[in-house]
Amino acid sequence: MGKYKVKVGIIGGSGLNDPDILEDRVERRVSTPFGDPSDCLIEGRISGVDCVLLARHGRKHDVMPSKVNYRANIWALKTLGCTHVIASTATGSLQEDIAPGDLVLLDSFIDRTKSRKDTFFDNSCSELTGVCHVPMDPAFCPETRRLFLEAASKLSLKLRPTGTCVTIEGPRFSSKAESLLYKSWGVHLVNMTMVPEVCLAREAGLCYAAVAMATDYDCWRDKEAGVSVGEVLATFKKNVAKVTKLFREVVPLIGAHEWDTTIDDLKSLVSSGFMSAPS
Ligand code: ADE
Repeated sequence: MGKYKVKVGIIGGSGLNDPDILEDRVERRVSTPFGDPSDCLIEGRISGVDCVLLARHGRKHDVMPSKVNYRANIWALKTLGCTHVIASTATGSLQEDIAPGDLVLLDSFIDRTKSRKDTFFDNSCSELTGVCHVPMDPAFCPETRRLFLEAASKLSLKLRPTGTCVTIEGPRFSSKAESLLYKSWGVHLVNMTMVPEVCLAREAGLCYAAVAMATDYDCWRDKEAGVSVGEVLATFKKNVAKVTKLFREVVPLIGAHEWDTTIDDLKSLVSSGFMSAPS
C-alpha cells in the first residue's frame, strides 16, 4: 500500500455519463476558486476503488466545448481527492485506418483552441501564485496508459495504443482545408475538448489518460458527406459499451497499482516549472 490513496476521476464525454457505472453513488456539489464545474460530481466505487464521475458537458449535455469550465472541472476532482483522471472523448478520424467506432489511447495533442483558460497560474486565485511552465511531454500518464493497454488486452478489446489528437475551438466543425491540413501533419484525430483538460490535469498533478472514440471521418474524404452531430452521437451510442467495459476493467488495475513514484514525479514536475526571479 503506497502513501497515496487512489481515487479515480472519470470525465465522460458526449454519451458517457451513465452513473450506473458506479456502486454506492452520492452526489456532490463542489464550488471552486475558478467557478462551478459542468455539473454535480458523483462519488462511488468500481470494484471497491473510489471513483468520481463528472459529465464534461453536464448531464443534460448543455455546456458547449468552449464554455466548459475545464479549470473548475479539474479543480473539483482534485478537491474530492482524485489522484487520477480517466477521460473519454468523441473524435473525428483523420486517418483511413481509424474507422468510426474504433478506440484510440491518446499519447499526444495539438492545440488549435483560441479562447480557453488553460492554466491555474494566471493570478486569478490568491492561493496559486507565480508563473508555471509545466512540461507536456509525455502529455498523458504513461503508467495509466500502460494499465489501459493491459485492460484492453484482458478484454480482447481493440485499442489503438497511440494517437495524436488536434483540439479545435469549435463549436463549428473543420473546413475541408483545415481537415486536410491536420491530416497532412500526420494527426490521427480531431476533437473540441482534449485541450485544456489534459494541460490542467498536469498542473494539478493528476495522472491523466484519455480514450478517444472515432465517431466519424470529419470532412477530408472526397467520397462522402462531412461529419454531422447526428453521426457523432449515433456512433458514440453504438460503441459506448466498449468504453464503459474498458473503464470498468482499468479502474481495479489502477487501484491495485503503487503510485508513489509516479505521483511524486508529477508533483516535482509542477514545482520545478515555476519561474523564479533571476538572481
Ligand atoms: N468530435 C467528434 N467528431 C468530431 C470532428 N469531426 N471534429 C471535431 N470534434 C469532433
